[in-house]
Amino acid sequence: MENFIFWNPVKLLFGRGQLEMLKREVPKYGKNILLVFGGGSIKRNELYEEVVSLLSEIDGNVFELGGVEPNPRITTVRKGIDICRKEKIDFLLAVGGGSVIDCTKTIAAGAKYDGDPWDIVTKKAAVRDALPFGTVLTLAATGSEMNPNAVITNWETNEKYGWGSTKVYPKFSILDPVYTYTVPKEQTIYGIVDMMSHVFEHYFHLEKNTLLQDRMCESLLITAMETAPKLLEDLENYEHRATILYLGTMALNGMLSMGFKGDWTTHNLEHAVSAVYDIPHGGGLSILFPNWMRHTIHVKPERFKQLAVRVFGVDPAGKTDVETGLEGIDKLREFWDSIGAPARLADYGIDDSKLGLLVEKAMANGEFGRFKKLNREDVLAIYRASL
Ligand code: NZQ
Ligand code: ZN
Repeated sequence: MENFIFWNPVKLLFGRGQLEMLKREVPKYGKNILLVFGGGSIKRNELYEEVVSLLSEIDGNVFELGGVEPNPRITTVRKGIDICRKEKIDFLLAVGGGSVIDCTKTIAAGAKYDGDPWDIVTKKAAVRDALPFGTVLTLAATGSEMNPNAVITNWETNEKYGWGSTKVYPKFSILDPVYTYTVPKEQTIYGIVDMMSHVFEHYFHLEKNTLLQDRMCESLLITAMETAPKLLEDLENYEHRATILYLGTMALNGMLSMGFKGDWTTHNLEHAVSAVYDIPHGGGLSILFPNWMRHTIHVKPERFKQLAVRVFGVDPAGKTDVETGLEGIDKLREFWDSIGAPARLADYGIDDSKLGLLVEKAMANGEFGRFKKLNREDVLAIYRASL
């Protein structure tokens, strides 16, 4: 196990009715509030009215930035920064999924930076300060509600990058499963794939002695697989929504990564695909992850065997580690198929016509990956297997 420092200051307010806590939390940070939200889901399910009404009770001056896109764009971040400067915003409140939260994080940091916010996303500029912000999460998936990372897309250049800074931990995050009831089935599936993928990105590392970390990862995967089919049959079931909401937050808040560094290759591969084709993040991961696994199994077959046996119930008797591991990967594919997650890029109408561009985007910063460093040929092989 490597040395580590764990620090996560996000105050989680979890469960039914926690939205009321806005009245206690928001006034700590000032009166001028920028409410950031997406394409309208919070208006359709009436969360918007509830939030605005609570903010009116604390005499906040509320300004709005709606229309944040899934795969949020740098152009929207720039709009948000302009509002922050013009209206002297003290505090931002993100109400939505990972895209709204990531956009808010980048506005919060960009408002305190003199140059263009794309410098922050591309890590040309270090984040020295950020406006404070809180979140009301409406979609279980990214873990952005309790981590210091954000992913932003630039449509002019077809680039999608993640960045992070301890300055953009949310001050608080409100997680009420009830507000996730309206997440459509398809989006619920993407969220579940995303959180499972976060666990996989942690699980495949080269560090020794991560006994507890392994068991924690396996427990999240088993719980996701037990709960997903029940939730997808009953989208307004409070307990299943609660389990998945809690799980998504725990899968990417630093809890799983103490003492080692995960891989994160497949996220990089997926970000390149959604930068070019604007597909949902979880959909891309569902296609790419099993193919990344098949491509890298030979690096450390015993890790894949452990996953296959402990999580997918594969019997290893009489099989090599590679055979057992491959059976586990097949079971993962079967599970994702069974809940309706996409298996091929063709499911999004993607063919081989832009493979070169995808590889170029994925390789923009050179070879990548900690479990196995991927070069151009590796990346091309994984994309080809995913067509
Ligand atoms: O825009 P609205 O109208 O709100 O609709 C959204 C959007 O269309 C809808 N939705 C959200 N909550 C809903 C709802 N619809 C009905 N009822 C609700 N309660 O769902 C759609 C997708 O929303 P989005 O926020 O894009 O999804 P998600 O949370 O999966 O976020 C995806 C983004 O996060 C990035 C991804 O790359 C992608 O850009 N990621 C961020 C990470 C992070 N910050 O740590 C890590 C992840 O690995 C990921 O890369
Ligand atoms: Zn993800």
